[in-house]
This record gives sequence, C-alpha cells and structure tokens, in this order.
Amino acid sequence: MSTVWKHKDLLAIRPLDPAEIGLIHDTARAFKEVLSRSIKKVPSLRGKTVINLFVEPSTRTRTSFELAAKRLSADVVSIASESSSFKKGETLKDTGLNLQAMNSDIIILRHPAAGAPQFLAERLHAGVINAGDGAHEHPTQALLDTFTILEKFGKHDAPADQKLAGLKIAIVGDIQFSRVARSNIWAMGKLGAEVTLVGPTTLLPQEFRRLGVKISHRIDDVLAEANVIMLLRIQHERQKQQLFPSLGEYISLFGLTHERFKRCRPDVMIMHPGPINRGVEIASELADGLNSVILQQVTNGLAIRMAVLYLLTGGSGPQGVKA
Ligand code: CP
Repeated sequence: MSTVWKHKDLLAIRPLDPAEIGLIHDTARAFKEVLSRSIKKVPSLRGKTVINLFVEPSTRTRTSFELAAKRLSADVVSIASESSSFKKGETLKDTGLNLQAMNSDIIILRHPAAGAPQFLAERLHAGVINAGDGAHEHPTQALLDTFTILEKFGKHDAPADQKLAGLKIAIVGDIQFSRVARSNIWAMGKLGAEVTLVGPTTLLPQEFRRLGVKISHRIDDVLAEANVIMLLRIQHERQKQQLFPSLGEYISLFGLTHERFKRCRPDVMIMHPGPINRGVEIASELADGLNSVILQQVTNGLAIRMAVLYLLTGGSGPQGVKA
C-alpha cells in the first residue's frame, strides 16, 4: 500500500517512519526534475499563502523555502524578527495567530528556543514547519542531507528502512549544540545507516549512545572506513562557556585537513550543512573539492522544501507532481 502524508505539521524527524521519509524523498525527486526544466514553476500551491518567520539568522533555509513556495506558485512573505513586532514585545503565539488571521496556510518558523514550532503548531490550524529550533531539530536539513546521500549510495529497491543499509556515516564536530546532528541521527538511522558521532567530550556527551549511534573522540579512528563524513561548525552562539582550549587545538584534533583526507576512502562523500568556517572544521580546498557535495546539498534543499510544502498542503506524492 502506498504511503499517504497525514500530518498537519513537520516539526521533527523523530516521529516520522521510514516510509514517510521515503514519500518526501520520492516527491522531492519529482520536483528536482521540475527544477531542471527551462520553466521551473508548477501551479501546485496556487492560491495558498506561505509565511517565512525567522527569529534567527539564515541564508540557505530561508531563501530556499521562499524560492520553493514561489516555484509552487504560492504567495509567500518572509518576515525577519528584527523588523517585526517581536521587537515591541509581541509573543510568538500572538504573532502566529495574527499571521494565521491573514488566511495563511503554512508558517515556517526558525526560533532559538527548542520546542517553539511545536508550541505554535498546537495553537494554530495552519500548518507549521520547523526550520530549526534551538539545538533540537532541523528536519528539512536532514531530509535534504539524506536525499543527497541516497543519490550516490542509496539502495533504491530496498525496503524503506534499509535504503542506506551498510553505509558508514561520521558526523564530526559540535554535536551537543547541533539540531542538524539530532535530525540526521534520526533520519540516517531510520534509513539503516551506521552513524558514528565524533567530537571532543565537551561537545559530545555519552548520552548520545542512547540514540543508537557509536561515539568516538578521535576523528583519525573513523576516517578510513567512513563512506560519508559530515562536518559541523562550532555553534558559538549556543555555548555559554569555552568548551575546548583553542581553535588551533580543535583543528589539530578534529579538523578535516589535507593530511587526514589522504587517509579517507577515494569515494568518500564530504558534507556540511553550512555555514562553513573554512580552515576550521574543514580545509578550504576540501570544501570546494571533488568529494564535496556541499553545494549539491543546497540545490537539493529546494526540491525537498517544495516536497514538504506540497505534501503539507494536501499534495498526493510524486505521482501528483504535474507540469
Ligand atoms: N544549513 C542551514 O540551516 O543554513 P542557514 O542557517 O543559512 O539556513
């Protein structure tokens, strides 16, 4: 039986089952084909209204949600918190209710507080999409990351929970404060990959083992076997104290340097959700090199966000994506 999307919101990867992740990926694949045409637009969301509400900075997520809505022919408005009535003390709930009162169908929220999108979703009949909440989840990032991995390594005929079976993925860096890491741990695990988290003890607590992943505090132990290495930046904005002695020490212990790259598999896939700190978590030339898919991740983000908007507004899946 084919999978049907049955959620009002997309708040996290954790509650999704592998078939639902597969439905989003299959729908995104159809939209990626649309994006390769000379006219990159379909009428799927004509008459719908999408609001981008970003209470934290963003380049990729905000722009690609806005473009995705436009490619689907929705009316879209982007609001930055600095120029909104948040500045006058309006609450998140009141902001959401007011945006909904303008007959918005979808509100996309990025917020520094974990749980803010869920709080809003429980109070609105409009759909809510989590565009990153604190260190909790960033579901569309994990969907685009796994989509990108599937393009190269996916077992397309396998059951939904085995599409990445046998694949070894290392996520390296500031795990503790990373919503990207948390969403990817869920998404990659649900698709059957073996995930190893790598970072200093202060940024990688032992509790992560409970999520079914391996833990290492030495990047050199995982390089030779990893099919995919995902680097994460240090999230200084979420850290209240210095959690490693110096940047130089971090680079020497955890940075993907040229020397370390020589010990990786020749076909290793190098990923980063962005923004990159060149020369810190990754050598600048490796970020631009042949093994890097960092910009492919961004390209795929547009198709993923089109798929999510389409499914949340009643779209039926890849078979419903029309010219
Ligand atoms: N990957 C990501 O969320 O990037 P932005 O912060 O630029 O949206």
